[in-house]
Amino acid sequence: MQKLIINGGARLEGKIQINGSKNAVLPIAVAAAILGDSVSVLHNVPNLTDVRTLSAVLEGLGASITRKNGSLYIEPINRMEYEAPYDLVRKMRASIYVLGPLVAKLGRAKVSFPGGCAIGPRPVDLHIRGLERLGAQVEVKRGYIYAQAERLVGAEIDLIGQHGPSVGATANVMMAATLAEGTTVIQGAACEPHISDLARFLNAMGADVDGIGTSTLTIRGVKQLHGTEHTVISDDIEAGTFMVAAAMTNGDVYIEGITPPQTHAVSEKLIEAGVQLDWDRTGVRVTTPGQLKPIDVTTAPFPGFPTDMQAQMMGLLSLASGTSTITENVHTDRFIHAAELNRMGADIRLEGRKAIINGVSSLSGAPVMASDLRAGAVLVVAGMAAAGETTVSRIYHIDRGYEAIEKKLNSIGADIRRVSDSE
Ligand code: UD1
Repeated sequence: MQKLIINGGARLEGKIQINGSKNAVLPIAVAAAILGDSVSVLHNVPNLTDVRTLSAVLEGLGASITRKNGSLYIEPINRMEYEAPYDLVRKMRASIYVLGPLVAKLGRAKVSFPGGCAIGPRPVDLHIRGLERLGAQVEVKRGYIYAQAERLVGAEIDLIGQHGPSVGATANVMMAATLAEGTTVIQGAACEPHISDLARFLNAMGADVDGIGTSTLTIRGVKQLHGTEHTVISDDIEAGTFMVAAAMTNGDVYIEGITPPQTHAVSEKLIEAGVQLDWDRTGVRVTTPGQLKPIDVTTAPFPGFPTDMQAQMMGLLSLASGTSTITENVHTDRFIHAAELNRMGADIRLEGRKAIINGVSSLSGAPVMASDLRAGAVLVVAGMAAAGETTVSRIYHIDRGYEAIEKKLNSIGADIRRVSDSE
């Protein structure tokens, strides 16, 4: 295993380019590999562990995937393989995305039931409910979800769960509905930018999805989808993470390849906390003219403040001049990073789904451990802002969603080394 050793205290300065969105490319690759009848080419694909894990799942199903210069060439499945095994699915929950498309295309699917993870239990009841509404017979036994249907049939489906809309269930059911007979209406659909990117991709394949970007999606089923070429949108969470990194190191960083609507909720909160954002046509310059101010943040589905930026925001608010709060409404157990930040000198107290953050004047380097992807990212960012050396272990979590994070940050002034655990 590898770890990152961060020599803190550097001021980030320069230009950094944002990669394609992980959460967009995962369902898009699934659609290309399972629903399409001919080759698709995806551009702006980040080189991440999650993308490689998903490629292995899709290759196991019979697709053929080649990566060349940031593009994926996806030849769709060509045999009747319908099982996604535990060994692969356990590495990445997003493997559940193959469930709906497999039933739609092959009439049946057997997908390992994804487990919980460090950010909470993460059920899949909405995915199952949606597919049942489309006429699939779904059964969970011996750790697998079995689904089958001769042909799915369009229906009215409400996908609102106890924590609001579900990104994954919306993607799964929307993909399945593209090949169903008749019209499907999804109420309470997730509106995240990556869901819209998936819908645009499906339409380019010949699907008929209406209401893109809203909470009501209307999908008129078609008989067949073909391969297409698509450039994946940029990663709003990577951009948000680097905005926070710039602010926490009192830096001056230009973040290229991101637009205001993608990061609206995060930008609003950064500005409220005293960060200056100067947007132009290609990106945003991030500076922090004065002391960071305390604020209150509540996570919510898009267009609300994203749960995937909650950890990074907690790091930033640790250095504000007063008491902030963060209320986590999406993944209510997602606070493991608070204890790690406290090891670095932060003053964070948890009360149920609320974190109370008393700002401190500085952080100090310490050995810490990444518990999930974004919890890992905040430790790297905090490590750059802290005095002294921080060692972040279990960085395989970080590599799931950030391509060569240390190279990018070192290019704008950070001092981060990747070493193997034995060093
Ligand atoms: C996706 C993102 C993840 C992000 C999350 C919320 C990907 C690959 N991952 O995860 O980074 O944190 O959206 O923005 O895109 N829920 C149910 N039943 C279900 C499904 C979800 O109750 O069947 C609950 C979840 O436990 C959670 C909430 O709904 O509390 C939202 O989850 P969901 O949007 O489905 O998250 P993912 O798609 O797993």
